[in-house]
Amino acid sequence: MKALILYSSRDGQTRSIASYIANKLQDTLRCDVIDLQQADDVDLNQYQQVLIGASIRYGHFHPALAKFVKQHAEQLNQMPSAFFSVNLTARKAEKRSPQTNAYTRKFLLSSPWQPKQCVVFAGALRYPRYRWFDRVMIQLIMRMTGGETDTSKEVEYTDWQMVDRFAQEFGQIQYEK
Ligand SMILES: Cc1cc2nc3c(=O)[nH]c(=O)nc-3n(C[C@H](O)[C@H](O)[C@H](O)COP(=O)(O)O)c2cc1C
Repeated sequence: MKALILYSSRDGQTRSIASYIANKLQDTLRCDVIDLQQADDVDLNQYQQVLIGASIRYGHFHPALAKFVKQHAEQLNQMPSAFFSVNLTARKAEKRSPQTNAYTRKFLLSSPWQPKQCVVFAGALRYPRYRWFDRVMIQLIMRMTGGETDTSKEVEYTDWQMVDRFAQEFGQIQYEK
């Protein structure tokens, strides 16, 4: 069995989650982990299941996500497939489900691909790594939403136990067809 894990990541958190899931599954499932922006030539026929992960920046997933989904929707819908989204809104437990996380809900509503499994992970806040404009903007958003405003801080909100549980579910997805 071979799985494809595609990720769209700007600052590395979604890539880390994708690699972590691949590592977790390595004893039972061979996984190729590929950047969504370099997935133009990927042959889905080589895989038995697919996982796509993407992060949010200024309210949007990277356009590469919609492009890939549009291009491969038919095939994706016919195979066991899953989606995870990563954002900071999900640091609040009540905004961490596909239904309560606005970005994820919107994606699922308009997507021609309907993944069989979907999960939302909280991302990371890494002020010192952001360029000036992004740092100011994120600080403003954090101030408005009651989050961390100290720009010297790096905070990882990702719940790795939740990632563990999801990896296990994804590892068993083929049996749920
Ligand atoms: C410039 C910038 C804009 C962001 N915009 C949003 C946003 O609109 N909503 C949100 O929930 N999180 C937002 N985030 C948080 C990211 O989704 C979070 O940091 C995530 O971990 C990034 O994942 P990545 O490193 O894989 O790109 C933003 C982060 C940055 C740096």
